[in-house]
Amino acid sequence: MKSKRKKYLIISVIILVLVVSMVLLGLYLDQRHKDELYEAMKINFVEERDIEYGSALKTEELVLSHEGGALSFDKELDPFTLGGQDITFTLEKEGVKRSFVLNVAVADTKGPVIALKSDQLELDNGADFDALANVESVSDPVDGKLEPYPDNKVSEAAGYYYESDVDVNKAGTYEVKIHAFDKNQNETSSTYQVIVKAKVIPSTGPSINYGASGGYGSLGPEDVTSPTYINGILLVNKTHPLPVNYGNGLDNTALNAFYALQAGAKEAGFNIPIISGFRSYSLQKDLYNRYVARDGQALADTYSARPGHSEHQTGLALDVGALDNNYGNTNAGKWLNANCAQYGFILRYPKGKEHITGYQYEPWHIRYVGKDVAVAIMGSGLTLEEYLGAA
Ligand code: DAL
Ligand code: ZN
Repeated sequence: MKSKRKKYLIISVIILVLVVSMVLLGLYLDQRHKDELYEAMKINFVEERDIEYGSALKTEELVLSHEGGALSFDKELDPFTLGGQDITFTLEKEGVKRSFVLNVAVADTKGPVIALKSDQLELDNGADFDALANVESVSDPVDGKLEPYPDNKVSEAAGYYYESDVDVNKAGTYEVKIHAFDKNQNETSSTYQVIVKAKVIPSTGPSINYGASGGYGSLGPEDVTSPTYINGILLVNKTHPLPVNYGNGLDNTALNAFYALQAGAKEAGFNIPIISGFRSYSLQKDLYNRYVARDGQALADTYSARPGHSEHQTGLALDVGALDNNYGNTNAGKWLNANCAQYGFILRYPKGKEHITGYQYEPWHIRYVGKDVAVAIMGSGLTLEEYLGAA
């Protein structure tokens, strides 16, 4: 009996040991399986961890490939927040999870986008030119719409400025460069061309042919010590020169009268810029000599005064609007013709009076004589010479 009990006990112990061993083995195998699953989980991320601000890259696109489980991630990539971001990617299989933390950095490395209205502009010789007027817009993906820097001077802020060597008075092809910076000092630039057209040369009309004399009298600027006044009005033409040293800039009264004219024009919807104002004897000499070299003296004498004979040396004459024979047919030119007298100016070289003034029709050349005289002259259709009895 005693030995029978002993036998049961031994069998029980053996069974227990076996059961415990089986359980332990099971646990061990399970753990090993889990470890194997864990070890088999892999994610292959993209190499580029710098993400451009505003990028359209999707979070899952940060993963090139993965194996060993189903992929999930804790948050979406936010391309609109600058700086580092940790995204945790997790693989899961049979309850086993493995996480991988990916650090990406959202940065602004792209400069602003410059949109120009045109790649190439054509300008009339002497025309007004604003380098920024050709800029449609400048905007940055981070900073939004940019404005030009005040006074064209770069600062720390986002903005844009221009570089230009355009000389509106010299025919040629020029380049204007627009430089834009965002707040992070990313720069972009864009270039456009400006073609300044050749100056319009008035064609010789039938009434103008002065031959060698050019219509000039015997008196030259070296021969006179004072200008000619008739009835208190200064007269300068081919027979009435100014002394060589006469003149020192635009007359203030004339200039202010022109500003009033300009304001009136603006109100009527016209922009009438000054193209040429005071010209000294020596400047006129340079100009005239250039025209002679280009066109020959006979033709030059029909549209350019010899030095000492230009009304521009008085400081009372201005070339305005556009140096274009057709200016008188434009709305601005018509407005000027109809309204200049109200501001004290006359059109000095009218059409049909070339034989009296000695010059081609110039719809752009105005002369200050004061309102009363201007109204009388423009109302009569006379030239200044005729009005003063000096024709
Ligand atoms: N064009 C005018 C006549 C001047 O040269 O003064
Ligand atoms: Zn002129």
